[in-house]
Amino acid sequence: MEDRYGHRISYLRVSITDRCNERCTYCMPRELQEWLAREDVLTYEETLRLIRIAADLGVTKVRITGGEPLTRRDVIGFFQQLPSIPGLNDIGISTNGTLLARACSRRPVGDARSAPEALSHASRSEAATEEAAEQETMAAALREAGVNSVNISLDTLDRDAYAGTTGRDFLPQVLEGIDVAISAGFPLIKLNCVLMRGRNEDQFIPLVEYAAARGLMLRFIELMPVSHSDVLDESNFLPVAEARRSLESRYGPLIPEPAFRTNGPSSYYRIAGRNQRVGFIGAMTNLHFCESCNKLRLTCDGKLRPCLGSYLEFDIMKVMRAGATDAELKRFFLDVVERKPEQHDFRENYQPGRMMVAIGG
Ligand SMILES: C[S@@+](CC[C@H](N)C(=O)[O-])C[C@H]1O[C@@H](n2cnc3c(N)ncnc32)[C@H](O)[C@@H]1O
Ligand code: SF4
Repeated sequence: MEDRYGHRISYLRVSITDRCNERCTYCMPRELQEWLAREDVLTYEETLRLIRIAADLGVTKVRITGGEPLTRRDVIGFFQQLPSIPGLNDIGISTNGTLLARACSRRPVGDARSAPEALSHASRSEAATEEAAEQETMAAALREAGVNSVNISLDTLDRDAYAGTTGRDFLPQVLEGIDVAISAGFPLIKLNCVLMRGRNEDQFIPLVEYAAARGLMLRFIELMPVSHSDVLDESNFLPVAEARRSLESRYGPLIPEPAFRTNGPSSYYRIAGRNQRVGFIGAMTNLHFCESCNKLRLTCDGKLRPCLGSYLEFDIMKVMRAGATDAELKRFFLDVVERKPEQHDFRENYQPGRMMVAIGG
């Protein structure tokens, strides 16, 4: 799939839930959040059908996101279906990391066992015994299911600051989740740090050292205006160039690595004298940010979005539930790609229409 501006679409970012166990200030407001009703969210079967169609059209990479994807019931069973989709060769997840170390029951790939409430009483206790014996962490289950890349959000290593930004005192669980993910053996684990003036400048160096000690890739991300929350304003925006200078004052000039890409819009640099790369995602200040965009987004309520920073979204759930054939859904994808804008509208006094948590970052 290619759009009018020569963007080749090979990457589908798929949100499977708008729900989250955290309340990040830049992603969702603190006031009571109305979650989507279950019937308004794509079922796993519907999501898999749309991913299959996208893969037929040339998508090779999916990243599953939310909300917090690991809060959705039977998420491992969903991940287990992805590798069988022809054409997909890169399966990732974006997570806040809080549930990676949580125990889940080991379930063989292809086991179509129904939800526990559908089991008879006898088979339920049988299953419980079996499951007690066969527990593993969510991270290990994801790895076994074929996930090769994990993005984990980590804006700070300071517990109070973490609780202040996310609304939850979950830093210990996240750090444990990261260690468990490392043990699970994912080929690529990236830590994502959102830059916030007055909130985490003092954490840039500690985060670089934390990532270095574990061999992880750290990326700094500029705040984007994708929230209703008043936390996002000009006083707390911190450009990637400033974060880079802050690192250079400690490590000396960073060495640009323009040839290094991970399928996304990050610019990578190496720290001199180390085998460590750090990435910078400057959605707001990098004027060439959209040039290499290869992405399409599917929201959990079945909207295809050609761009994170645009109001455009198209209701593919509605046509699918009205009985569209695969050929018609393919046409729908192609029409959405045709409407992909040249670049995002974030610099045009963009007023968010949906919170990030409901789009899927
Ligand atoms: C919406 S979250 C969904 C996945 C998961 N819950 C997580 O936190 O990683 C995906 C990513 O979007 C980022 N994000 C959310 N709101 C943002 C904003 N206003 N500006 C920049 N990044 C944002 C988060 O930091 C996170 O790395
Ligand atoms: S950034 Fe992720 S963890 Fe934070 S509120 Fe949004 S979806 Fe939840």
